[in-house]
Amino acid sequence: MCGIIGYIGERQAHPILLGCLKRLEYRGYDSCGIAIAGNSINVYKNTVRAEELRKAAPQLDGTLGIGHTRWATHGQPSQANAHPHCDCDGKIAVVHNGIITNFQGLKQKLIHEGHKFISETDTEIIPHLIEKYYRGDLERAVEAALDDIEGSYAIIVLMASEDKLVAARKDSPLIIGLGDRENFIASDVPAILDYTNRVIYLEEGDMGVVTKDNIKIRRDGIEINREEHKISWSVDEAQRGGYEHFMLKEIHEQPRVIRDTLVGRVSVAEPTVDLAAMRDKGIESMLILACGTSYHAALTGKYIIEELLRIPVRVELASEFICYGQTLTGTEAIVITQSGETADILRAMRRLKEVGCQVLAITNVVGSTASRIADQTIYTRAGPEISVAATKSFMAQLMVLYWLIMSYSKVDSRRLASMLLALRQMPSKVQQVLNNGYKILEHANNLSGYDNVFFIARGINFPIALEGALKLKEISYIHAEGYAAGELKHGPFALLRSDTPVIAIVAQDNTYEAMLTNIREIKARSSPVIALAEEGDEVIGGLVDSVITVPQVDAIFSPVVNTVALQLLAYYTAKQRGCPIDFPRNLAKSVTVE
Ligand code: AGP
Repeated sequence: MCGIIGYIGERQAHPILLGCLKRLEYRGYDSCGIAIAGNSINVYKNTVRAEELRKAAPQLDGTLGIGHTRWATHGQPSQANAHPHCDCDGKIAVVHNGIITNFQGLKQKLIHEGHKFISETDTEIIPHLIEKYYRGDLERAVEAALDDIEGSYAIIVLMASEDKLVAARKDSPLIIGLGDRENFIASDVPAILDYTNRVIYLEEGDMGVVTKDNIKIRRDGIEINREEHKISWSVDEAQRGGYEHFMLKEIHEQPRVIRDTLVGRVSVAEPTVDLAAMRDKGIESMLILACGTSYHAALTGKYIIEELLRIPVRVELASEFICYGQTLTGTEAIVITQSGETADILRAMRRLKEVGCQVLAITNVVGSTASRIADQTIYTRAGPEISVAATKSFMAQLMVLYWLIMSYSKVDSRRLASMLLALRQMPSKVQQVLNNGYKILEHANNLSGYDNVFFIARGINFPIALEGALKLKEISYIHAEGYAAGELKHGPFALLRSDTPVIAIVAQDNTYEAMLTNIREIKARSSPVIALAEEGDEVIGGLVDSVITVPQVDAIFSPVVNTVALQLLAYYTAKQRGCPIDFPRNLAKSVTVE
């Protein structure tokens, strides 16, 4: 997720672009840059945030320009990879938010046609394609370029000889801000609220052609009208997308995050990680290290790997990991870390490297320390996660694990095909949970009055019980414990009372009957039980105090929908208790100390 901005008017573009970029940094901030049209296009960009760019950039004169703040997906953060990107002659500049899935083939073709590239990014092919098709009509050249592209984009195109901006979107948001003899184009509303609250939302497939006093919107070559809206939000509210907290916004971003994480991966079911090397090495076992929520993703991965690959998996807390080299021969080591900077993870990775282990990192931050220590890295593409509580980044980790293991697995083609179909339905299944979020609100209001809560499950949902407990703990300050359902009777039963509710995840899989047995045992000790159960389950309602219903999914994907329901339960409970939610006491987004 990146932020893009365009300005055309009568004022100097330079300060306006930088001011807008600062408002977009919640979308990404590993590098940023601007391009301003004077006699030619002047570009200034670097691996800095908007404020440093403002201090470092030379004064670029001109009243027409574009800007970009980056969250890297292709290519490390570097000056060359920062946007804007230009064509060979520097006459066309482009900023882009999205992922072009077929850029490698297009890039090779352009190189063959004599185009020179300086970055590793997917975006850089766009100005070169426009240059290739430009015959005097910029809009047509942009349309021709976009016809070649597959994937997602929101782009703004600037050309030295044209007193206009051309913008287009597919699967990434883009708006036009209306001013007085000036207009703006931006990824999102917060960017422009300091200058205007009049906005047009471009829709899928729209192309905007914007001058300082005119806006044309085209779709499939035909001019259309789009309604103007007045925004009443403050900048702060707009950065949260109108949600009360970043956490709720990020929970609701998960359908998009699932699509972004899987785009260009699941469709061809071909891994970008060189799994052949893993397979050829004859992996006998796997070791996965992580902390906190990422550890729960790792544990979920264990269940998936053991079901699909039938090889033993060790999952260890990075902080507890002691490595005696001799025990790791034939073991593939994976680390999972959203930030890529967790000290416990980095220490463990260095130890693994010392004993000669190949390490695969799954992380959300391109260029993070973990990605630089690892031998191979898979990026989760969740975009920046502002809330300290991990939600969308956890979902993205699960998606990478599903895809990675399915790409590598030896399941029969029919099972693989049914799993791929189920995986592609995950965004809509998650959206169903989000749409029914208001029903979870009632349960949260009840839960908010308790001081101790258990979360229980069996099998692949056991890690989700742990994650649900962690979410509730860290944002509502209620003491919550995740437990294997079969384990509760081995001691914790002593804690069961009428004021100790139990949240039971009841999946329609081979753990179902045992879960019902455990619930009966708990009910006999008078604890209230809230079940997370699949729609259509006719039995569970008669056994428990209340039911949170989740959509029916292939059992191996049940952690996906259960996770979202428990994120919402934790969120609404914390809200009911008046907790700060996004920045809980004593916690940091990245734990860089051991
Ligand atoms: C999760 O909600 C917490 N913020 C925390 O447990 C986090 O998952 C843990 O610190 C690991 O962080 P990492 O994924 O960046 O390594």
